[in-house]
Amino acid sequence: MAKSRIVTGQALEEDSRFDLSLRPRALADFIGQRSLKENLSIAIEAAKSRAEALDHILLYGPPGLGKTTLATIIANELGVGFRSTAGPAIQIKGDLTAILTNVERHEVMFFDEVHRLQPQLEEILYPALEDFQLDIIIGQGPSARSHTLTLQPFTFIGATTRIGLLSGPLRSRFGIVLRLDFYDQEDMEQVVKRSAKILEIPLDEGGAREIGARSRGTPRIANRLLRRVRDYAQVRADGRINTDVARESLDKLAVDAHGLDEMDRQLLLTIIGKYEGGPVGLNTIAASISEEADAIEEIYEPYLLQIGFLNRTPRGRVATPLAYKHLGREPSRESQKTLFQ
Ligand SMILES: Nc1ncnc2c1ncn2[C@@H]1O[C@H](COP(=O)(O)OP(=O)(O)OP(=O)(O)O)[C@@H](O)[C@H]1O
Ligand SMILES: [Mg+2]
Repeated sequence: MAKSRIVTGQALEEDSRFDLSLRPRALADFIGQRSLKENLSIAIEAAKSRAEALDHILLYGPPGLGKTTLATIIANELGVGFRSTAGPAIQIKGDLTAILTNVERHEVMFFDEVHRLQPQLEEILYPALEDFQLDIIIGQGPSARSHTLTLQPFTFIGATTRIGLLSGPLRSRFGIVLRLDFYDQEDMEQVVKRSAKILEIPLDEGGAREIGARSRGTPRIANRLLRRVRDYAQVRADGRINTDVARESLDKLAVDAHGLDEMDRQLLLTIIGKYEGGPVGLNTIAASISEEADAIEEIYEPYLLQIGFLNRTPRGRVATPLAYKHLGREPSRESQKTLFQ
């Protein structure tokens, strides 16, 4: 259900067609995330000047903020090859062994959804990451012999939206751990302007501001909303995107001024209307709005927490005064006690 929302940070079918043209290729084109970029560029320079493989890197953060993009940029900046695979794609030892033995000197091996790597495969990976060595068993039964292969030094880049699901030992193998945060309004406007330029869409400041504000601090969503607003501008206006055109078309798509859609509003209104603003447990909310608890935690909540509409307490989720205000609700006397205590 969550997957088809226009404001989901997760990739939709329609996004992939534009990924190639819209994805920044150099660190200088990657908007925002300033401190992350600075740390990264120092590490890249240092590795290059020592002619060594860059340390293994873990990138984590909500969907659509640029983890895959950064991984490709790192390989570009290092001037090395880029190989990519994902947790669910690798099921057997042989797959992983083949990938590792094929990696060339100093190349980047990108592993998406690294939290979904199977535990038995993790164990193969440890020596490969630590000493660039791989223990393999040749033959079967009594004649089986164990061999140690030496691999080329390489850079392993893992990406995950769920760092909490990563095992401690795997996490400790990464020399550099970088968290991507939601983008601020200014950065979002830059993302919208950059994409409009590439796609040759006429867009003014007001249009960029409006689309940026409704994109939940997520570049992938900004790119998606930009394309929808372009359609509207071409059909209902003269093709140009200004404040009014952006506002009208996004209102029609039920994406509000903060980028919330019906599901977000339903979630907050459930907490407010049914549970006096909370605290209410995640599973109770999930049952009330017919959505999976996992999806709520991974897709809805991070942004609502970020903009201060929701709080997590030990006793459950609480809708904040900001959420009440945004939804035009008055906290009852009873809920005011919890909200403002
Ligand atoms: N800093 C940025 N500047 C400009 N565009 C960006 C930036 N970050 C991401 N984008 C755009 O957003 C799109 C989605 O980014 P990307 O695929 O890298 O996200 P992700 O974090 O890997 O998401 P997922 O968790 O779903 O794998 C990219 O195609 C790119 O066009
Ligand atoms: Mg990705």
